Amino acid sequence: MKILMVGFSKTGNTYMFMDYLKQFNSDIEEYRFNIKEDVNIDISPYDLIIVGTNTWGDGKIPSNCKQFIIDNALKYKKDWIVFGTGNSIFANFCGAVDGICKILKDTDNNILYTFKYEQRFIEEDLDLEDKKIVNNIIDTINP
Ligand SMILES: Cc1cc2nc3c(=O)[nH]c(=O)nc-3n(C[C@H](O)[C@H](O)[C@H](O)COP(=O)(O)O)c2cc1C
Repeated sequence: MKILMVGFSKTGNTYMFMDYLKQFNSDIEEYRFNIKEDVNIDISPYDLIIVGTNTWGDGKIPSNCKQFIIDNALKYKKDWIVFGTGNSIFANFCGAVDGICKILKDTDNNILYTFKYEQRFIEEDLDLEDKKIVNNIIDTINP
């Protein structure tokens, strides 16, 4: 299975979960973008796409991430894992994850798992439910 992982970040918290996942499958191809950078990735060669992002302002998806999703979701029907980091003091915690999932569902893409975490990814801090999701993600990328 060919896996692509794409992350969008401003202060690096998104990349923490990418670093974690890479331990379980070093063959994953990955790209890391600041939320201001242009993105031009075609997902056609991949079976599974893992996309992660922060949420920056009013629960919104960073605009380059949104463009990446829209460009590809309209063209292809793929399996996706969507994750995000946020801060629960904001009304719309990890709203970008919900926004991405809405686009993917509306375009008949298949979402395998979603995962949200508070600021920095720290495995030891996960509650049981999140631990289960993370284990499912690991099983998917490292069968
Ligand atoms: C101006 C600003 C707006 C933010 N808006 C949201 C938000 O609407 N929802 C949320 O869950 N987190 C929000 N956050 C928190 C970030 O998403 C959080 O710090 C995240 O861990 C940053 O990830 P990164 O290090 O990958 O950029 C906001 C942070 C800032 C500074």
